[in-house]
Amino acid sequence: MWPLARLAKVHGTQLAGADFFCEAFTEFPKTEIKRLLICGAADTGLLATLCGCLTDRLSEVRIILADRCQTVIDQNRRLAERLNLSAEFLVSEFSELQIAPVDVIVSHSLLPFFTFEQRVSLLELWRQLLNPGGRVLFSNSVFTSAPSVDRVSRFQFDRSGILSVAKQLQFSAEQLTQLQQSLDVMMEKSSTTLVRPVEEELIAQINQAGFEIKSWNRIASGIAERGPYSSSDSTERIRVEACLATKS
Ligand SMILES: C[S@@+](CC[C@H](N)C(=O)[O-])C[C@H]1O[C@@H](n2cnc3c(N)ncnc32)[C@H](O)[C@@H]1O
Repeated sequence: MWPLARLAKVHGTQLAGADFFCEAFTEFPKTEIKRLLICGAADTGLLATLCGCLTDRLSEVRIILADRCQTVIDQNRRLAERLNLSAEFLVSEFSELQIAPVDVIVSHSLLPFFTFEQRVSLLELWRQLLNPGGRVLFSNSVFTSAPSVDRVSRFQFDRSGILSVAKQLQFSAEQLTQLQQSLDVMMEKSSTTLVRPVEEELIAQINQAGFEIKSWNRIASGIAERGPYSSSDSTERIRVEACLATKS
């Protein structure tokens, strides 16, 4: 679903933040990323992007991918097998994640899945899991100020865009029916809601959790850059690409 949703956007968007992740890795000496945690994956887009960034050292990095969704894990496992990666896959709620410390934690468009209070626990988990000298890298859209309307929005895919891409890709009638049914399940029965963070609040939470902000790139959120889901809120939002380290 996610790749189709990305194709449904103008010119077919790539995963936002790819350049940022690649650049951030160049700041690590080659030997310093031994263990990398991908915290929430969705489709294989994030894993594929990170592999592209790490080509010079991929054989030395152990990738740990955690997500609560079995389908997501299965999809990513297939990609990892195809690429012969050193990787492990965990179907787990992050609150129950138990792994040895890592050198880098990557997350992408994950924070809206967490309420303000849940973000405190997520940041605490990241701090506990990070080796000294390690970094958290995330790319996420945020509100620039508290929205006037309800901050919670239902998770929405661009249904007609996805179906039109599927037709262009010459999906058979049977495949189109299956796709429509999947969209129905995801859009009508899913209870997933988004709580996009407010920038200032997020910065305060990050500081309180014991992180130092090494970099905080603010990027205007253009239509092509926006994620594969649509949203009805009109409060200004930007994408933030952040690099965090634990305070010494
Ligand atoms: C929006 S997706 C990430 C976006 C993705 N990186 C992309 O391609 O744009 C969020 C992922 O995090 C996972 N997730 C959300 N909350 C979680 C939680 N509490 N524990 C584990 N996984 C979670 C979801 O299953 C989903 O795969």
